[in-house]
Amino acid sequence: MGDSRLLLFITMSLFLSSSTLGEIYFCPLECACLHLYVDCSKKNLVSVPKIPEWAEQLDLSHNKLNNVTNELNTLSNLKVLKLDKNNMNNIPNLQLDEILELNLNRNNIVSIDTNHFPENSSLKILNLNSNHIMTIHEGAIDNLSNLEVLKLNRNEIKSLPNHLFKYQTNLRILELNHNKLHVINALLFQGLSNLTTLKLRFNNIDKIMDGAFFGFKSMNLLQLDHNKIRGISKGWMYGLESLTTLSMSNNLISNIDLGSWELCANLEVLDLSHNHLIEIEGRTFQHLINLETLNLSNNNISSISQESFSYMAHLKALYLNNNKISWTVEDMSGPFSKLQNLHFFNLASNHIKSINSRAFDGLSNLLELNLAGNNITSIQQHAFNSMTNLKKLHMNSSSLLCDCNLLWIVKWIKEKAEQKFITATCAYPSEVRGVSITKLKEENCGDSPKPKIVEHPKTQLAIKGRSASLVCSATANPFNNMSFLWRKNNGNVSNPTVYANVTLSQSGQPRATSTLIIPNISQGDSGKYQCVVTNNFGTTYSSKAKMNIVTFPRFIKTPTNVTVKTGETVTLNCAATGDPTPEISWKKDGGNDFPAARERRMNVMPDDHLFFIVNVKTTDIGVYSCAAKNPAGTIVANATLTVLQEPSFAKVMENKEVISGDSVVLQCMISGSPKPVLKWLKDDTPVVPGERHFLVNDDQLLIITGVQSDDAGKYDCEITNELGTKKHMTQLQVLPPVAIMVNEEDMTGIIIITVVCCAVGTSIIWVVIIYHTRRRMATAVRIPTESLKRTHIVHSDSDSPQMFSDNVSEHSSCKDSGTGDSAKQTSFDGVPMERIEQVHFEPPATNRSYSPVPEAHKLLPSSFKPSIQVCVNTSVTPATYSFSSQSSNV
Ligand SMILES: *[C@@H]1O[C@H](CO)[C@@H](O)[C@H](O)[C@H]1NC(C)=O
Ligand SMILES: *[C@@H]1O[C@H](CO)[C@@H](O)[C@H](O)[C@H]1NC(C)=O
Ligand SMILES: *[C@@H]1O[C@H](CO)[C@@H](O)[C@H](O)[C@H]1NC(C)=O
Ligand SMILES: *[C@@H]1O[C@H](CO)[C@@H](O)[C@H](O)[C@H]1NC(C)=O
Ligand SMILES: *[C@@H]1O[C@H](CO)[C@@H](O)[C@H](O)[C@H]1NC(C)=O
Ligand SMILES: *[C@@H]1O[C@H](CO)[C@@H](O)[C@H](O)[C@H]1NC(C)=O
Ligand SMILES: *[C@@H]1O[C@H](CO)[C@@H](O)[C@H](O)[C@H]1NC(C)=O
Ligand SMILES: *[C@@H]1O[C@H](CO)[C@@H](O)[C@H](O)[C@H]1NC(C)=O
Ligand SMILES: *[C@@H]1O[C@H](CO)[C@@H](O)[C@H](O)[C@H]1NC(C)=O
Repeated sequence: MGDSRLLLFITMSLFLSSSTLGEIYFCPLECACLHLYVDCSKKNLVSVPKIPEWAEQLDLSHNKLNNVTNELNTLSNLKVLKLDKNNMNNIPNLQLDEILELNLNRNNIVSIDTNHFPENSSLKILNLNSNHIMTIHEGAIDNLSNLEVLKLNRNEIKSLPNHLFKYQTNLRILELNHNKLHVINALLFQGLSNLTTLKLRFNNIDKIMDGAFFGFKSMNLLQLDHNKIRGISKGWMYGLESLTTLSMSNNLISNIDLGSWELCANLEVLDLSHNHLIEIEGRTFQHLINLETLNLSNNNISSISQESFSYMAHLKALYLNNNKISWTVEDMSGPFSKLQNLHFFNLASNHIKSINSRAFDGLSNLLELNLAGNNITSIQQHAFNSMTNLKKLHMNSSSLLCDCNLLWIVKWIKEKAEQKFITATCAYPSEVRGVSITKLKEENCGDSPKPKIVEHPKTQLAIKGRSASLVCSATANPFNNMSFLWRKNNGNVSNPTVYANVTLSQSGQPRATSTLIIPNISQGDSGKYQCVVTNNFGTTYSSKAKMNIVTFPRFIKTPTNVTVKTGETVTLNCAATGDPTPEISWKKDGGNDFPAARERRMNVMPDDHLFFIVNVKTTDIGVYSCAAKNPAGTIVANATLTVLQEPSFAKVMENKEVISGDSVVLQCMISGSPKPVLKWLKDDTPVVPGERHFLVNDDQLLIITGVQSDDAGKYDCEITNELGTKKHMTQLQVLPPVAIMVNEEDMTGIIIITVVCCAVGTSIIWVVIIYHTRRRMATAVRIPTESLKRTHIVHSDSDSPQMFSDNVSEHSSCKDSGTGDSAKQTSFDGVPMERIEQVHFEPPATNRSYSPVPEAHKLLPSSFKPSIQVCVNTSVTPATYSFSSQSSNV
């Protein structure tokens, strides 16, 4: 109602002349009247003249009034009262029902007390700008429930009482610019549900409490410029749901909490210019999907991530001028590509030296691009291709490198852009220095003098706690003033340790190398690293090298030495940590041959890091190595598996018969773990090795040469290990001697050879036997054939006499130890099977009688039985050579 009457009044007063109404209405001498308007301004008045009651609008500004209460309280029709620039110390106590607007700008009011305004005051506009108001008392404006505009700019208000505005539901505009507010308390503006505009520029605000604007429902415009705000947080955004313009320029903002804008997604204009922003992260402006103007000029922005502007499909104007932007335009691929409605883009006065071909991808509706104030040296081909609607390009670099790579722009400018904004000139080559690029001709273009990277940093694994280095080398022609910068994940490496040097390549070309050292690697050092090389002619970016951080494996469980009995189950434990998680693998005795695996007695459980062997056998004995391996390295833990097996006999011992003077072998084949100690006992007394008694093959064979009758008897083989003792017995029977003497010299030969070959480790038995045989044969060869024919070989328990030739020994590895017998070789090898030949003898005429030729008897391998088994190696399971008794039927 009041609004329309006020409007009507103003309209009327413009069209009605004072002369027509002069006679009807009296006008004070000092003043001028126009219908219901009385103008007494600028009259140096110290007191209020008599104002006619009909006055609806009274201008008393620019006088020297300081107390108007009495004079004006009679003006019941007064709607607008102007008291600007007087000497008022206080707000007049006007009990006027109709008053709508009161202007008290530029007086000396120092506080707003209670009792100045009548209950349900009709006042809609109250201007108190430029006074000295320091205090507003609680409840002072409670009676101004119809107030719509309150201006308190340029006062000295330091704080506002809580609940000050609780009755101002009709207030639309509140201005508090240029005061001394420094904290905005929570709920301070509670009640201002119809406020659309709040101006708080030029205060000292450094703290906005969470919920400070809570209760605003209609706020469109909030101005917080020129304060001391350091950060933006979601906490104080409550209540700003309908905000469309927020300006916070000239603060100290360096930090914008993620999610801050979630509650003011209707924002259309955001001014954050002249702040301290350094970085625009991918989500810094998340939720601002309706933004049309974003002013980020005059910050310190150098880092903009790829997604920073990807939410703002409606953005029309983007101000990024006067920042420190370089690589965003120099190296990134389409950082602004989602800004398809952008019309105006200001990138003036940044640190852009070159323009990547994809820097402006997607800006298809851009009309104006400002790149002035950047020392641009090069622009990649096609860099402007996507800006099909560009009309104005501002560029004034005088550092352009007008090599062949830039010629395209000459054509592009002629066709697309208004040349008057392009004042860029060439700096190189020297022939065209100072020439505007719009006037460039194709003749003079040459090689690019920009840095060329000859060694890019390499992707690598870095081990936590160690140090890593990245190397970047570049060259340029001319070679001077190259500077290196290291970047990580699109930001500069902070406090880098860098070594730089210059070397000559093989072709004599100088190259500069920068090495970035990262000491004591931690997880935070992972990322993509890049080196940026700059000289006077431009900037070149290396490829990005990924640094993956790995941690060396460390055991959390290691296998321990174990001892088990055969048949039991053994478990070995092994687990390790590291990054990436190490793989566990097992080896036995350094190899991959697991007898238990072959026999399906082994099981590895990868999840539990357990390693099982069931039904353990002695073949499982060994060192088991658990290896934990990841890209950082390998660690190994060993455990010895010991298997205990009771001593046992592998073969039943046989009783033996031997002809006196011959040799005999007693066998005691055993097994057990640990290896049993073997003891031979003859008639319960230990056998002592001596001239005729030899123990070979780990004592498993007892050889008795030149058997004598007192060798007959009971032989015990007693075996002992930790698990017990066992005993087996054999009976040796000595048959009457053959009438022949073994010559002493032969005996010595046998013994020596035995000892030698024992040391060499071949089959002792074979040595003995073959030697023996050879001797006989050698002797036999010397006797007449007839006598040989009549040689009768008697065997202990066989009627089938047999004989071996000594051809066996034709070559061998067992060297003659020098027995003096030079007739034939004295060396043998232990595998004579194929070489065995049979020598046939005629059976003698007399039963059990021997050839009269003494030597012929020496041929007898007296210990031979039709079948004999001997050990030829030391393995537990004896290798068996079988000599079948091949009867020669004569
Ligand atoms: C103004 O004048 C009236 C009447 O003379 C007086 O009652 C009142 O206290 C004065 N106010 C001020 C602020 O001097
Ligand atoms: C509001 O108006 C009433 C009646 O005129 C008065 O008594 C009261 O003091 C006023 N309140 C304030 C805070 O000015
Ligand atoms: C002021 O307005 C309130 C609410 O409309 C009403 O209850 C009250 O009577 C009014 N007071 C005066 C003095 O008009
Ligand atoms: C003011 O707000 C109230 C509710 O708080 C609403 O009913 C009223 O219409 C609003 N007035 C204006 C002028 O917006
Ligand atoms: C920021 O940009 C807006 C939009 O053009 C402009 O109105 C405002 O003046 C700028 N602010 C400053 C501090 O330059
Ligand atoms: C731009 O280049 C000119 C001449 O090469 C130099 O004087 C000026 O300092 C450079 N400006 C910047 C910001 O590097
Ligand atoms: C230059 O630095 C590289 C990498 O650090 C190094 O291998 C080379 O030895 C250095 N050369 C000189 C001359 O210091
Ligand atoms: C495990 O056995 C090996 C070989 O017998 C030995 O060297 C090692 O010290 C033993 N380890 C432990 C922990 O007893
Ligand atoms: C573990 O055993 C393997 C093979 O048995 C051996 O090469 C290695 O030196 C051993 N390592 C340790 C730490 O004992």
